[in-house]
Amino acid sequence: MVTTISRLAEYVGQQVMLQGWVANRRNSKGLVFLIVRDGSGFCQCVVAADQVAPSCFALAEHIGLESSCTLSGTVVRDERQIGGFEVQVRDLQLVGASQDYPIAKKEHGPDFLLDHRHLWLRSQRQWAIMRIRNAIIYALHRFFQQEGFVQMDAPIFTANAVEGTSTLFETDFYGSPAYLSQSGQLYGEAMAMAMGKIYTFGPTFRAEKSKTRRHLSEFWMIEPEMAFYDLDQNMDLIEAMLHFVLQAVLKECRFEFQLLNRDTTVLQRSAEQRFPRLTYEEAVALLTGRQHHNGTTTLGLLEADLEAVRKRKEAVVRELAERQQKLVGGSLRKGEANFNQAAIDRLKQELKDLEEDEANIPQWMASAREFRFGNDFGGSDETVLMRLFDVPIMVYNWPHEVKAFYLKRTADGRWAKGVDVLAPEGYGEIIGGGERETDINLLTEKIHEHKLPMEAFEWYLDLRRYGSVPHSGYGLGLERLVAWVCRLPHVRETIPFPRMYGRLTP
Ligand code: 4AD
Ligand code: MG
Repeated sequence: MVTTISRLAEYVGQQVMLQGWVANRRNSKGLVFLIVRDGSGFCQCVVAADQVAPSCFALAEHIGLESSCTLSGTVVRDERQIGGFEVQVRDLQLVGASQDYPIAKKEHGPDFLLDHRHLWLRSQRQWAIMRIRNAIIYALHRFFQQEGFVQMDAPIFTANAVEGTSTLFETDFYGSPAYLSQSGQLYGEAMAMAMGKIYTFGPTFRAEKSKTRRHLSEFWMIEPEMAFYDLDQNMDLIEAMLHFVLQAVLKECRFEFQLLNRDTTVLQRSAEQRFPRLTYEEAVALLTGRQHHNGTTTLGLLEADLEAVRKRKEAVVRELAERQQKLVGGSLRKGEANFNQAAIDRLKQELKDLEEDEANIPQWMASAREFRFGNDFGGSDETVLMRLFDVPIMVYNWPHEVKAFYLKRTADGRWAKGVDVLAPEGYGEIIGGGERETDINLLTEKIHEHKLPMEAFEWYLDLRRYGSVPHSGYGLGLERLVAWVCRLPHVRETIPFPRMYGRLTP
């Protein structure tokens, strides 16, 4: 009976056949322990010399990492094993050999792993991330479809900028310049006037020549757009969507979170609680430390963080020295030596992270203290502000001068009715959106102010000329959401093949 690892529970005590790859092998006397993965999960498969043909045992003893194979055996429940089952092998057949698999168990640097992304995707951690990404995508579609939204595909070749001209990728469209889409929003607005409520879900492109942990050159955005929605209704929808998606992923991806060692407390809280809504003015008062939140301030918390980082650093340095001393002594048995080396590698990585924090925190504090009212938030400002919250927050009513041309202004003309959603645990912006300007004169003014070519926007202005209505929408950056949900240090692991400044391959 050919089955998958994900369905082993149905076959306890029975014989099954699995088709997969060898993710790990450990030989001991008369026994070979294989961790087999088949895409649906991971399973320990035990090959015993006295239970299989000699040729089969010889194969098991020497099979290379990531060789593909088929095997049959009996399913046993075993809670201690990965996935909760074990297969006692009766037969093992090689499908495709693999020798000297380049990704070993030892630590590899990020560049090496990214160069081998086509293979790296097979590792447990990447498997978990991609499954969570998939669960998020599926939940997003379910949410919008249930709410009566029509999915639309916006064009990728565009004639105009949406989110500023500095991040456009230019390409050649039959001899004319064209740009890869930065956002499907403007087309989404047109479609919302035809369908009422729509969402796009597609790739978007930003030529950002900076290496940050939040920026990709190609990323996927979900952009709902709703006719007759104001800013408050927009924020209600954002909250309902994130609650829905977080609840789904928490329910469906327990094993994946376990593999990632992800403490999901903050996600659970965020899946249920209301998200604080702050005006830009209120957010700035908190950011700069002038305003308390629940008895604490950003600067006070960062001060304490810095202190804790320094203390921990001292302890790590001490432990490193001790362990290195032991290794040099040379009296350790092989197992102990390996254990020590692994601990040293881990401590070195932690030390690097701590040193980075020690350098960053004072800079963040300085830039928060000196934040100029009227500016947009930078990545570090968001991180600092989110030190105060353990669920996402929504910051709305921004100075219109620093926000996109299409945002509606408040009655007093001072603020743009935009909203940014900032994720906790240091992640910052995951969503940007707002209510759209309906006044054709104010819109034209803004298009001029942003030095955008008016001809390219004539069709967009038609939406205001023929039956304009109040409307709103937003864009959720899929990779930013995945990074937060998985608590990853960088967005590069959230997408199968990342495209970013300095990386186009594999
Ligand atoms: O805030 P942004 O630029 O907003 C828009 O594009 C609007 N037109 C969306 C709308 O209202 N329909 O981008 C939206 C989100 C950000 O909050 C962020 O999550 C993500 O897209 N994003 C990026 N993700 C990865 N790499 C980049 N370079 C990103 N730029 C934006
Ligand atoms: Mg934004």
